[in-house]
Amino acid sequence: MSEAKPIRALRGRLLWFVADPEEAGENAHRYVEDGLVVIEGGFIHAAGEAKDLLTSLPATADIVDHRPHLIMPGFIDAHLHMPQTQVIASYGAQLMDWLNRYTFVEEQKQAQQGHPEKLAHFLLDELLASGTTTAVIYCSVHPQSAEALFRESERRNTRMIAGKVMMDRNAPDALTDTAASGYADSKALIERWHGNGRQLYAISPRFAVTSTPEQLAAAGCLAAEHPGCHVQTHINENRAEIALANKLHPEPGDYAGIYQHHGLLGSRSLLGHCIHMTDREWRRFAETGAVAVFCPTSNLFLGSGLFDWARARAEGVPVAVATDIGGGTSYSMLRTMSEAYKVLQLQGQSLSAFAALHAITLGNARALKLDHLIGSFEAGREADIVVLDPGAQRAMAHRLETARDLPEELFVLVTLGDERNVVATYVMGEPVVKPSFSGGA
Ligand code: GUN
Ligand code: ZN
Repeated sequence: MSEAKPIRALRGRLLWFVADPEEAGENAHRYVEDGLVVIEGGFIHAAGEAKDLLTSLPATADIVDHRPHLIMPGFIDAHLHMPQTQVIASYGAQLMDWLNRYTFVEEQKQAQQGHPEKLAHFLLDELLASGTTTAVIYCSVHPQSAEALFRESERRNTRMIAGKVMMDRNAPDALTDTAASGYADSKALIERWHGNGRQLYAISPRFAVTSTPEQLAAAGCLAAEHPGCHVQTHINENRAEIALANKLHPEPGDYAGIYQHHGLLGSRSLLGHCIHMTDREWRRFAETGAVAVFCPTSNLFLGSGLFDWARARAEGVPVAVATDIGGGTSYSMLRTMSEAYKVLQLQGQSLSAFAALHAITLGNARALKLDHLIGSFEAGREADIVVLDPGAQRAMAHRLETARDLPEELFVLVTLGDERNVVATYVMGEPVVKPSFSGGA
């Protein structure tokens, strides 16, 4: 260990994953009852037994004692919308109506001076307070929306993936770009932000309903020109949406075919929802490595339907999980997985606490192809960390009196937990100051 770089060590109950519990069972996770995560210059240096690691620390190391709390890799959210932080909890509509009545109204405010900055600041506060250290984020059509998000993320040194939405039809004039301007604005943002510090760019055609074939082709060109960028879009969320998408793009024969035709299905493509999928569409995903993004609170709130995780697994399609703020109703990935459990229960499927906690850490990191950087405590990973107190809420502490073992304790955490269970969040080894809430604006 070099003396030159600052060393911080967090002591507590360590939990992280090295494999998928659905494949490796008990061998998928590492749990150390009295553990230490040693961080050197913002990166994980080692994680293991405190008694072994404490002796190797220099006298100058900053040791933070979080016992008896759980220490995990920071959570990852694979899909949410920054301009929708004031759309969340909008009443009484399903997707297309909800977009027109609430979302497109609110997204126009991103053109107002200072508004993108305000929402970016709020969003990153809220994510970090919920233990989420990386998120994949849609901004509005306005380049300044993505610009504000990236600037705020750069200021906090968080690893965020974001993009300006591309929409050239079926939206208010104030929210549309063109195939050419959407391409040019996205390209300028990629050049400025992709790989700049911890920031990464996601090419973001909103969905086939709001893009012409020309715009989807332009997005496909961007993806081919920038293979390190992610692509994010929506698919097969709602029956009316599917009918409209297929009517607007009749040739490919199905919704996934539209994106595939334009070069938008690949291993870095993140497709939100994937609820009403045909056999052929599952095959298109499996062939291209495209990722299905499961957004349980949103799918329930908008009445969209039930995501079939067992089917995705059987088809060999990678799955990521996400909040989908503001169709989704919670910023917390714990709350998200509690709703995921219920969505699967309704289909006779199950989700263990280990599978849920894997999904929001290493599982999402792998789905995003970022597991060499984040999502675990393997040496060399960026030290984005969440510290959790499973007993932080009264009802949880009461329930935990009868918990017999770790799987049971973790299941209580996943089922009842949320941001109130987050004791601390670290970004590249630095503690994040929790936002103070005084109410009002
Ligand atoms: N489909 C296209 N845009 C959106 C959006 O903003 N939210 C959701 N849930 N679905 C979409
Ligand atoms: Zn979405």
